Amino acid sequence: MTSKHTIIQISDTHLFGDKSRRINGFNSYSNLNKILSHIKTTFEKADCLMVTGDLSQDGTFESYQHIANLLNKIGIKYYLMPGNHDDVESINKVFDFKWIIDNVDYSIELGDYLLCCIDSTLYQRDEGAFSEEQLIRFENRLKKNKDKHTIVFMHHHPLKSISPWMDGMMLINYEKFNSVIEKYPQIQAVLYGHIHQVFESNINGTFYGSVPSTAYQIHPKTEVFTMDTVSGGYRVIELENGKFNSKIVRVKTDD
Ligand SMILES: [Fe+2]
Ligand SMILES: [Fe+2]
Repeated sequence: MTSKHTIIQISDTHLFGDKSRRINGFNSYSNLNKILSHIKTTFEKADCLMVTGDLSQDGTFESYQHIANLLNKIGIKYYLMPGNHDDVESINKVFDFKWIIDNVDYSIELGDYLLCCIDSTLYQRDEGAFSEEQLIRFENRLKKNKDKHTIVFMHHHPLKSISPWMDGMMLINYEKFNSVIEKYPQIQAVLYGHIHQVFESNINGTFYGSVPSTAYQIHPKTEVFTMDTVSGGYRVIELENGKFNSKIVRVKTDD
């Protein structure tokens, strides 16, 4: 059986309860609105939209209401994951989830593909990690689904980004996680957010890639936090005949 699917990934929307508030000079609400409009126009028939964390900047109920309103407008089925800035209790109130802090793992079947979402957040900390239980559950799922081409979604970066200050906030047990990835050849890609820049690598046939933030961009390979002037955007993932392809689309947002 073969199947063809288009998936969109966005990340780090960083909305506030107050729509007019700016983060690092950018209106995150307005930028998200423009990027979602671009997605709706260009990829209206996408199978789903994955939002890989840092949905909110202030963790307020209202900020998640704004995200829900914008996402509901574009008519593409969406899946959310928490980032280090998110408040799971507020998310649960808006989206009718029953997420548990540090433990929001689930998977989605799309034909002969499996999308695995793993929660890399640690309560009230900027760096991330997976617990032993999470990794065992993840491996069990992979063992049961060896015939499924698998894409992993998470928030924190599991590869060093070459910015030392940024890598202080990465997935702490990244070596252990990557050794699991290496054991299962059905994993085609590991996709994440958090670093607000594009970083891509191929390790033993598995694609690792981050996505721009929809809110503001960080300059790669810097000693200290430095803003980048490139536009925000999203990743388009095309899955067909057991293959994985993806590209970044940038959207000029001005705000
Ligand atoms: Fe972020
Ligand atoms: Fe983050």
